[in-house]
Amino acid sequence: MKHIKTYIEEHKERFLKELIDLLKLPSISANSAYKNDVLKTADEIKKSLEKAGCDSVEICETEGYPIVYGEKIIDKNLPTVLVYGHYDVQPPDPMDLWDSPPFEPVIKKTDIHPEGAIFARGSCDDKGQMYMHVKAFEFMTSTNQLPCNVKFMIEGEEEVGSKSLSGFVKKNQEKLKNDVILISDTGMIAKDVPSITTGLRGLSYVEVEVTGPNRDLHSGLYGGAVANPINILTKMVASLHDENNHITIPGFYDKVENLSKEERIEMAKAPFSLEAYKKSLDIEAVYGEEGYSTNERNSIRPTLDVNGIWGGYTGEGAKTVIASKAYAKISMRLVPHQDWEEITELFKKHFESIAPKGVTIKVTPHHGGQGYVTPIDSLGYKAAAKAYSDTFGQTPIPQRSGGSIPIVSLFEQELKSKTILMGFGLDSDAIHSPNEHFGVWNYLKGIETIPLFYKYFTEMSK
Ligand code: BES
Ligand code: MN
Ligand code: MN
Repeated sequence: MKHIKTYIEEHKERFLKELIDLLKLPSISANSAYKNDVLKTADEIKKSLEKAGCDSVEICETEGYPIVYGEKIIDKNLPTVLVYGHYDVQPPDPMDLWDSPPFEPVIKKTDIHPEGAIFARGSCDDKGQMYMHVKAFEFMTSTNQLPCNVKFMIEGEEEVGSKSLSGFVKKNQEKLKNDVILISDTGMIAKDVPSITTGLRGLSYVEVEVTGPNRDLHSGLYGGAVANPINILTKMVASLHDENNHITIPGFYDKVENLSKEERIEMAKAPFSLEAYKKSLDIEAVYGEEGYSTNERNSIRPTLDVNGIWGGYTGEGAKTVIASKAYAKISMRLVPHQDWEEITELFKKHFESIAPKGVTIKVTPHHGGQGYVTPIDSLGYKAAAKAYSDTFGQTPIPQRSGGSIPIVSLFEQELKSKTILMGFGLDSDAIHSPNEHFGVWNYLKGIETIPLFYKYFTEMSK
């Protein structure tokens, strides 16, 4: 495509400034105190799509946060790319671990990002990555090089389970009709190792409550004589893995797809340094399911993790008490063919069955979604691979990711099209963590690569 590098060079300060302005809005979907900021962010996205060249942009109201929809249809006979992204962000907590405030973006240099990285909540997940598409689109429209039709669908509830989006997709199949879905909401292996995400894990997220006696008790007068819900809960949680770190829930692995030896060998070719991995996390050893490598453990194998656990006295000093209740939030990452609702049911049944007499158990499912895998011989994958080859000078590696974007499998089911996951973030960008950042280089590289996807996808569709 003509002039892309010069266009980026000329406009990069503005590209950065616009993203920084967007990052100043605390669009935290999980916390209703930020409702107005989330809504304001949707308005800003609408304006930016209009400015970038969409013919029509709407704020589509839902029961939750609105979906921003925009399109530019240049010719009904040309292919249509549907871009999905999210404008909501994770809560920034714990606040005191941020080196600079999460909603006051700053550009700082790091070892991995000597060109600088934007530090702010949402910089990588997903405002920065979503905005690359808006700027790539701006480039194509303003230089008369848009080769096909484009539809944008940017939601505000991804971080809380995309509840409204599924209904929206089911109701608007005609409006959302497309030939390929394009998403930048994942990562790549390294700046010099481009990769395309070919798999996402599914998710089942549950909360458990263990109730013992009907009130908090003196731990001297009652301790040892009644079930302590915290003791029980931790025992129950510990029993969910065996000595080989396999998950003990009956039926949990029944539908897990086992990769062939060849596939595993292929996977192991992706560059990965266990030493660097350990060093980056300050750990002496990795830990996980017996018989699998680190990269397998975090992509092709299902897992179970406690995300939070609480109960009893946690304030200053000591208090001798047996709490009446204990709680935990548990996530299970699933692989293709495992059905998240079925797994949620299996978990519930098992967790209730292992509780000793003397406590009662409540399991509350939160949200979930199916996993996703996409082949590497699709038109979309080939177009993306060619685009990366042009801008990175090497063929990208297909890589299955451990994260989840549950809506992607619904897209395939309802819209019958494949999703191409062109992620430009790095694992070290600390998404969901304090000091989240996104490399300036990655941001601009995304803007450079995306238009080539459009070009090659259109050419290959002929
Ligand atoms: N963008 C992430 C998912 C992701 C990140 C996938 C990196 C692959 C690589 C997304 O915003 C996210 O955080 N998803 C949640 C699930 C959702 C239902 C809350 C997740 O994976 O925990
Ligand atoms: Mn995301
Ligand atoms: Mn996220």
